[in-house]
Parts: sequence; structure tokens; C-alpha cells
Amino acid sequence: MRILHISDIHYREYYEPVNEGYLGVVYGMTSPLVHLEKCFSSISLSNIDGVVVTGDLTEKGSKRDYQLLKSFFIKHIGNLPILVALGNHDDKRAFREGWCNQYSILGKDVPYNKTVEIEDKLFISIDNANTLYSNGGFTTEQIEWLEGILKEKYRKEIILIFHHNLISVQKGIPAADPIEDFIELVSKYHIQALLCGHTHYHYQGLIGNILYSTAPSMSFRGHNEAEDGIVKFEEFPGFQICEFSSQGIKITPFYLEKEPRFIQSIIIGEINI
Ligand SMILES: [Fe+2]
Repeated sequence: MRILHISDIHYREYYEPVNEGYLGVVYGMTSPLVHLEKCFSSISLSNIDGVVVTGDLTEKGSKRDYQLLKSFFIKHIGNLPILVALGNHDDKRAFREGWCNQYSILGKDVPYNKTVEIEDKLFISIDNANTLYSNGGFTTEQIEWLEGILKEKYRKEIILIFHHNLISVQKGIPAADPIEDFIELVSKYHIQALLCGHTHYHYQGLIGNILYSTAPSMSFRGHNEAEDGIVKFEEFPGFQICEFSSQGIKITPFYLEKEPRFIQSIIIGEINI
């Protein structure tokens, strides 16, 4: 089985015409739809069994932004199963209305959790983006929800998707916190893989015995290697393919350009990605 893993699209039909700061970065980047189109045409979708998107679908988008993005996905992937997780740049209410086509009276912090079965595997999307924890974190209620799902639908092959990274060494982006109860639960149930986004860089490692991987961003990414207080933003869009076989899981990142394109620099403290 092959799963296309996309993350951090930050789509909007129109971005605020601002040339400075974080807003200047998103205004200065290429439309993520251009990258997505390249992604879909660069792979053979007939060899893909499902798509997961690990958050920041839009850049604080409106209902219409989610509708347009969903239509774009459907146009390209047809009826392939798709499961999304929400990130800190998603608007949960606009998502429910535009992507899920549900009139929503739910508060903007009500988590979006969902499951989908693809062949014999269970994919679970659990929301770890909330206003309680600025770097993301699993609330008690979320852990209780996950435990209920794991008890009810347990099988050998379960893959969890969420937005915020769980390891802090990933490009210096702080890890979600708290995560202790989550780690204890996923270890107890022998989850097969944990897939996330948020850092905008590919990463692969282990959490306990569980494969853990972050997908590259389908939009911008930032870095401050010079440690001079300046973050350089560039676009180097990519995605990853997760192959599940009897041999195990193989995750391969792919990039849509030969090299990154510089967008602009921002002084640390002015950003919140
Ligand atoms: Fe993001």
C-alpha cells in the first residue's frame, strides 16, 4: 500500500498584499496550488491508495478557501480516500463548513478527529492543535477519545496522523507538549506509524518502537543556521510517499524543485509559524 503524505499547504485564494514580516512571506510565495498540481502530475496516482494531509491546509482560510482547496483535491485525486488533520493555521469552523460541508455552530477550539479505513489499515486523525498549548499538545479529552477509538477499532495496523511535531530537535521547532499520555497510549496499542507536519521539513525517526515521520511543506520553510536572530524563508515544496509492505514501512521524501527559492528574511520574535 502506498500513501501520499502532504503537509502545510497554507493555501488561500488571496493573501493580504503585505511585503514584510510573516504575512510578506505567504504573500511572496508561489500559490500552493501550483505545487500541488506538480505533485499530482509527478506521481502515478493509480499507484496510490490514499492521501493524508497533516495540517495547515490553509493560511487562516475562509469557508471558500476550504471549498476551493477541497475541489482542487477532488479534481486530481478523484475518489481516493483522503484523511486530513488540522494545524495551528487552520480555522476549524471554516474547515467544517467549507471542507466538510457542514454548517457548524461548534466553537473554534472544538477538535476535529476522524478515522478512515484503507484496505486493512485504520488511519486515525487526532487534532493536537489548540489554543491551550501554543506548540500543540494532547488534551485529556483527546487522549480519552483516542483510547475509545483504539479499544473499539483495534487491529494490527494503525497509523496516526496529527499536525504538531513530537520531537524538539526538528529544526529547533518546539515539540508539542503535553504528549506523555499520548506516547504511553500509542505504545500500549503498538501503533504502526505516527505522521505529522508543522516543522515544514522532512524528518524520520523512532518514538519508542514506533516509526515517526514529518512531511516536507507544500509551501514555505524557514531556517536560521547563522543563529544571528534572522530567519530566512524560502520555498522548497515537497511531499512524501509512505509504502507499507510485509517488509515494513518505507518513507521517501520528494521535492518539486531542484533547489530552494528565497522569499525573505524575518527577525526572530516577529514570527509564529
Ligand atoms: Fe505550517
